[in-house]
Amino acid sequence: MQRQQLVDEIKILMDLVADKTTTLADSVMEIDVNEYTDPQQFEREKIELFRHYPQFVGPSCVVPDTGDYFAFDDTGIPILIVRQQDGGLKAFVNICSHRGAPLNECAHGTAKKKRLFSCPYHGWTYDLEGKLVGVPFGNEGFDSIDRDTLALRPLDVQEKYGMIFVMPDPDKNFDIDEVLGGIQERLSGFGFEDHYYLGAKQVFTDFSWKLNMDTFHEYYHFEFLHAESIATMAYSNTASYRQYGRNHSMGSPALSINELKNIPEDEWEPRNHSSYVTFIFPNTVIFIVQDHFQTWRVYPITPDRSVVYHSMFLPKEPATPEERQHYEDYFQMINDVAVAEDYSLVNKINRGLKAGIERKVLVGRNEPGVQNMHRQIHDMLG
Ligand code: FES
Ligand SMILES: [Fe+2]
Repeated sequence: MQRQQLVDEIKILMDLVADKTTTLADSVMEIDVNEYTDPQQFEREKIELFRHYPQFVGPSCVVPDTGDYFAFDDTGIPILIVRQQDGGLKAFVNICSHRGAPLNECAHGTAKKKRLFSCPYHGWTYDLEGKLVGVPFGNEGFDSIDRDTLALRPLDVQEKYGMIFVMPDPDKNFDIDEVLGGIQERLSGFGFEDHYYLGAKQVFTDFSWKLNMDTFHEYYHFEFLHAESIATMAYSNTASYRQYGRNHSMGSPALSINELKNIPEDEWEPRNHSSYVTFIFPNTVIFIVQDHFQTWRVYPITPDRSVVYHSMFLPKEPATPEERQHYEDYFQMINDVAVAEDYSLVNKINRGLKAGIERKVLVGRNEPGVQNMHRQIHDMLG
């Protein structure tokens, strides 16, 4: 959002605070409890939402320079995304054409000499465009192969508004503007291209990816579950909500927001008094707070197991080891709150789900974000 949008948003949030309310959905939603546990539905979600649907990868700054790569295999298809010499991106199925090893050993890094990927198994080598350019002992061991047909398999990858999306299925394409559905108006102006990627924390959880996502879509629980942490900084059950295609965006007022009443509008620092959650369907939350932003990407493993990647992006690279440590500590603290407070509670919800008691999960009018995610899943799966 640009400054004027942030200022307008502050006014909306001030009104919600004054009225002691939040943006409301039209009606209460009921979700059949089996939707969280049914193995057949789970398999369909994996295919329709994670293999056939474009996936948010990250802001452009995860691969800033030529030869930088980002790899993940949580959608069921191993994916390698690489910054090209001309500044563009290419994505590949991360499977070596020899006997199928992934080409890189880390999730994030730079190609050898910024131009080559060498398979860790037998050293077959590919350039940034995925072409097979080296086969050790090739003249004898592989005298009959046609190297031109053994390039890495390309995937549709697109980058716009400082964000990267990829289609895991090699036979499918997508339109990035259609996927965003207009939500870029909420994300522009934050400098996703030139932030500094501090790193990611991987957390495995023993519950459904959807239970995992549900925790990010409402502010109703702050006062109760986060009484000693987040609720000391932000209003509970008070948020703006807007939908964009399958995605949505929410704004949350900090407890300090009313201080702005005594300050002229052109001196406001809106980001010091509000934070923003943007949901990119089906599995990503971008959390913009104060001077930085974080992403949470959640992937299914089994019906009651999921993995989340929590990533931290700073306005610029820390200048000193002390500054870096300050941000690392903060990053750890936020991650700990999610694990100790949200995830430990959700773990118990999962036990209730597994009890096999027929019932409905209720989602209130004050939880429009939770409603939207489930409505979109219903819409995708039919
Ligand atoms: S599997 Fe890659 S070189 Fe053998
Ligand atoms: Fe929470």
